[in-house]
Amino acid sequence: MALVNPHGKEKRLKPLLLSGPELKEAKEKAKTLKKLPMTSRETSDLIMMGIGAFTPLEGFMGKNDWKGVCDNFTMEDGTFWPIPITLSATKEIADEIKIGEDAALVDSETLEIMGMIKVNEKYSIDKTYECQKIFKTTDTEHPGVQKVMAQGDINIAGKVKVLSEGSYPVEFKEIYMRPAEVRKLFEEKGWNTIAAFQTRNPMHRSHEYLAKVAIETTDGVLIHQLVGKLKPGDIPAQVRAVAINTLIDKYFVKNTIVQAGYPMEMRYAGPREALLHAVFRQNYGCSHLIVGRDHAGVGDYYGPFDAHKIFDEIPKNALELKPFKMDWTFYCHKCDGMASTRTCPHSKEDRLTLSGTMLRKLLSEGKEVPEHFSRPEVLEILKEYYASLAKEDKIEVKLHKAAKGEI
Ligand code: ADX
Repeated sequence: MALVNPHGKEKRLKPLLLSGPELKEAKEKAKTLKKLPMTSRETSDLIMMGIGAFTPLEGFMGKNDWKGVCDNFTMEDGTFWPIPITLSATKEIADEIKIGEDAALVDSETLEIMGMIKVNEKYSIDKTYECQKIFKTTDTEHPGVQKVMAQGDINIAGKVKVLSEGSYPVEFKEIYMRPAEVRKLFEEKGWNTIAAFQTRNPMHRSHEYLAKVAIETTDGVLIHQLVGKLKPGDIPAQVRAVAINTLIDKYFVKNTIVQAGYPMEMRYAGPREALLHAVFRQNYGCSHLIVGRDHAGVGDYYGPFDAHKIFDEIPKNALELKPFKMDWTFYCHKCDGMASTRTCPHSKEDRLTLSGTMLRKLLSEGKEVPEHFSRPEVLEILKEYYASLAKEDKIEVKLHKAAKGEI
């Protein structure tokens, strides 16, 4: 047996990141080009293309791809793809760049030139339509909708060359891994069946349980945590990485689990995002993706198992990777252990419901976290993080007061 193939007809990874003399030359050229600013989401998508995680994409999507992806998960050439990967600009900036022209792609926050695009199309979209199709809502309280609504009015499409991965390789040195590296690691370990565990949280007991159930029937689990941008209130990736490493160290059998980070920004698109997670986990060499309750959701926009159902709505051969569907999991006092709605016969009152949102809420309010919610070693790390936040807050209040001459 071998690892699953990368996504797309060619069945090979297509990293668009340049290296060596080609990179040097491209960097020189990029300095001379007109600049196209990118939002942090666009930058993170570009880096995903750079490392080959978004194989087989070769650039930002044109209108036909955008429409096909919104309507039926399919690009113009028939490739399965669940969420538009697009670049936007204001009308003024778009007007300055001609079709056929090369432009430099610049991250709006760091001002670093991240890549180059050969512009082959400029088009406008109905943002409301995209949001309804992708997020199932147009409510601007939804963090993913907010970003689409705030983006420029013109989409710019074309093939890209990627010149930088930003600060990720340095900032997340211990966990940042590209698909080819992860595949190599799996091959070295002799693993063929690997379940990816998507997370943007430090792992609580439900997360641990999901990973362990998957380990029972696969060669290993890839704990794949998002290190791109999150919404305010989420726990920073560095803190999560330490917490997860501690959990792996103390509660997992060596050589059944690997932790890695990927540089995408969360869209909170629930079921559609679960499909995107599946596409790029296949590129990372994973045969399965663990999909639990409210996968990649936010608020109450999605039913708890919409992300399960969507895998039955896509064409059978859309992906080689298969979902590893897991029911609602919790700690049950009567079972005296972790269980799910499929395995525990007891009532709601006997169960301790676990969720990342609840854990973050308890910790940020300085409240006691119930026993069995999280491993004590993980809690210790999180409590330390929240204590440092409280300290920072106090310092900020002091600085604010000092600035106003109140102290
Ligand atoms: S996510 O936004 O990255 O999906 P999170 O890190 O909370 O959020 O979840 C990681 C994975 O664990 C997802 O597949 C999610 O569905 C699953 N999950 C989280 N909590 C539970 C739970 N209590 N029961 C079942 N699955 C869960």
